[in-house]
Amino acid sequence: MFAACLHRVPALAMSDFSLPFALPDIGEEEIAEVVDSLRSGWISTGPKVQAFEQRFAEFLGGDVHTVAVNSATGGMHLALEAVGLQPGDEVITTTFTFTATAEVIRYFGADPVLVDIDPGTLCIDPRAVEAKLSARTRGILPVHYGGLACDMESLQRIASSRELFLIEDAAHALPTRADGELVGALDTTAAVFSFYATKPLATGEGGMVATRDPDLAARVRTMRLHGMSRDAFDRYVSDVPAWRYDIVAPGYKYNMTDVAASMGLHQLAKAARFAARRTEIAEAYDDGLVGLPLELPPRPRGLSTHAWHLYVIRLDRQAPVTRDRFIELMSERGIGCSVHYVPLHLHSYWRDRYKLSEDEFPAAQATFECCVSLPIYTRMSNDDVARVIDATRAILGQ
Ligand SMILES: Cc1ncc(COP(=O)(O)O)c(C=O)c1O
Repeated sequence: MFAACLHRVPALAMSDFSLPFALPDIGEEEIAEVVDSLRSGWISTGPKVQAFEQRFAEFLGGDVHTVAVNSATGGMHLALEAVGLQPGDEVITTTFTFTATAEVIRYFGADPVLVDIDPGTLCIDPRAVEAKLSARTRGILPVHYGGLACDMESLQRIASSRELFLIEDAAHALPTRADGELVGALDTTAAVFSFYATKPLATGEGGMVATRDPDLAARVRTMRLHGMSRDAFDRYVSDVPAWRYDIVAPGYKYNMTDVAASMGLHQLAKAARFAARRTEIAEAYDDGLVGLPLELPPRPRGLSTHAWHLYVIRLDRQAPVTRDRFIELMSERGIGCSVHYVPLHLHSYWRDRYKLSEDEFPAAQATFECCVSLPIYTRMSNDDVARVIDATRAILGQ
């Protein structure tokens, strides 16, 4: 089967970690669909991207427009372009995130105003958002951290009272419900999902912009491919010759490929099953880690749900080892752990550019110092889950 392979790569599962921190769950269906695309000749944006967008919109339900892109970073860039972000504008976001959330604001010469998290959710604290509103504030960019929905009711109230845009970084949030409604179908400006290799729905690289605003969707669609009036598939199926298109703006190159969409179609069909398995693992951890000197992850409240992209524990001060030592000891047992995140205010660019100090972000700082992300993914067996629990119990010594 590998005879024609020029660069055969060992499976990631065979790395130094016998239980890696994350692994995508790619089945034979995804592989067959990718091969079908390769054989068809449609290896860039074509019919499968169109089908994936359509199924994703159906999955979210309601009146949602979806535009597939090559990353959540690109998708957030396009959403901010579509709302007309300008140099000098301010966008309020969380310090407790990956740098992509804030860097896309800088692409415009606008300023991310970083604020602290609510320790009860690890998501952006709406009171901190209110405290940072200024005449320059144009919008809010919250992150559904780890897959748990932000306090969307408060954020929507703040945004609508000040006519701000509200673009959700939904990189972790598939599927997540906020007060019963699926993220992606909420009454916000847009939500942007990531399909990066470790995300709950993985296409290697990829993302989706979901919005109720048809004009915003149309702008994102045009700008994801050079500002062309027609994309490759449209030019192929239309009666108008393929070479006849107009450039309506200086756009970007953020289109998704049919190879990625091939994976996305099958991953999406499994999304509910994947979410159920992640929830099962989270519940097993909750039960297995009880009584240890640590805080379990925040739980969803009311009608909200958790996608369990991350399972983040916080070690107590009384824990017998530091956070860093805990990760080392897990690693010695072949178990991969991680930290989400080193908050943005501790990274040299953000700290120096905005003269940030850790005292401004007490909750994010305290969380960072003691947080560990345990492995949580659908390819983990019950034995793997038990192994993580046993190792944690052994290290934390109770
Ligand atoms: C919170 C958050 N936002 C944005 C991104 C960027 O996603 P992508 O890699 O699809 O651009 C990530 C990726 O890890 C993320 O964790």
